[in-house]
Amino acid sequence: MKILVINGPNLNMLGRRNHKHYGSFTLDQINTKLEKLAKPRDVKLVFFQSNHEGQLIDFIQKESSASSGILINPGALTHYGYSLRDALEDTNLPIIEVHLSDISKREDFRKIDVIKKISLAVVIGQKENSYILGLKKLIIYIQESTLSEVRGRAKLTR
Ligand code: DQA
Repeated sequence: MKILVINGPNLNMLGRRNHKHYGSFTLDQINTKLEKLAKPRDVKLVFFQSNHEGQLIDFIQKESSASSGILINPGALTHYGYSLRDALEDTNLPIIEVHLSDISKREDFRKIDVIKKISLAVVIGQKENSYILGLKKLIIYIQESTLSEVRGRAKLTR
């Protein structure tokens, strides 16, 4: 199983951003934690971060057909990134959106989430653990849907 782990604008600066909202982990440290979770489960993670919406879209368009799901922190694009939203929707893949901070309890503009409707779940407010919980949920979802597909096919051939 291959999962895309995507981070949007400014998330390359984690570790140096406001610790109160985002914790003290760097993006590399978060990715290492995710790798530790994925490896024993036989899940391959492909990491990508960009400060540019178009580059995020190019990556999604290129990589999604050979992938099983997407874990994404869209950064501020969460609040207005309609072309990112459309690119994610076009993949037809299960998507989990994560945020380090609790975007429901910050400035009003952060309460708008244009990605939410096309996501299976949104995990917020748990700093780096939002990514861990999000990845766990996504792996379980993909495993369960693969299992029910296999069962469905077995029924048809019986
Ligand atoms: C964020 C929340 C966004 O509002 C902000 O622009 C970010 C990070 C988070 O993880 O809490 O860059 O996505």
